[in-house]
Amino acid sequence: MSSQPIGVFDSGLGGLTAVKQLRSIMPHENIVYFGDTGRVPYGNRSVSTISRYAKQDARFLLSHNVKMVIAACGTVSSTVLDLGDVLPVPYINVIIPTAAAAVEATKNGKIGVIGTRATIGSCSYKKEIEKIDPKIQVIQRECPLFVPIVEEGFISPDDPIAKLTVERYLSDMKAQNVDTVILGCTHYPILKQVIGEFVGESVKLIDSGKETAIYASKLLKKENMLNKSDSAGECSFFVSDRTEDFTNTASIFLNSNIGDNVTRVDIWNF
Ligand code: DGL
Repeated sequence: MSSQPIGVFDSGLGGLTAVKQLRSIMPHENIVYFGDTGRVPYGNRSVSTISRYAKQDARFLLSHNVKMVIAACGTVSSTVLDLGDVLPVPYINVIIPTAAAAVEATKNGKIGVIGTRATIGSCSYKKEIEKIDPKIQVIQRECPLFVPIVEEGFISPDDPIAKLTVERYLSDMKAQNVDTVILGCTHYPILKQVIGEFVGESVKLIDSGKETAIYASKLLKKENMLNKSDSAGECSFFVSDRTEDFTNTASIFLNSNIGDNVTRVDIWNF
């Protein structure tokens, strides 16, 4: 069991923010990643469509004999609430660890949440924060253009399109003096530097991919499911559309060339 891979999925590149952290916290773990690049973005779709896609993504990971499934996607985590019930292995999503980290981080009790339309519409982070501390004020904003900007590879800190879009979406939130912002979509940490420069360095940015990876490592340890091997873990990447675009942007983001270690799959078969 322990040497089986951890399965991670997202609608595209965003879940790599969790993979990057998983590799740094648990370097001996094997990882299978699926990015649904043929059907990204999920965030503007109906709950029934997102649910159908997420269940196919999870079944694909199970076909690789994973020991845990991580929905490294704010949209799936916010809208597909029964996913854990239909899986035979431990399942975690991004909401609980990310909300807890934001509550821990805020000093002035004002937390901003940014995410896709589906995530913000579900109020998932807001509800979770209010469960922990009902006095906290939560200011939400949907940012639907961030996902296509990342998928297009406009991710350099001085990219003019990324900078302008960040300014357009986050001006109101900045004016409301939040001291903590949840990057509630796993694509957004890829734009962390642009976002950070706009909101100012005193504002703490909570990375949902990172918090979820920390949470996963604690759970695997508690359940005695960590890989006992001393060798470096292997990571395999799968996508549902052209591999080239994914390889380029993923290599930049992960700081390692993933080369031809990306395979295209027909996700409709799962
Ligand atoms: N990374 C996904 C999320 O966390 C992006 C969703 C989308 O595809 O719109 O919500």
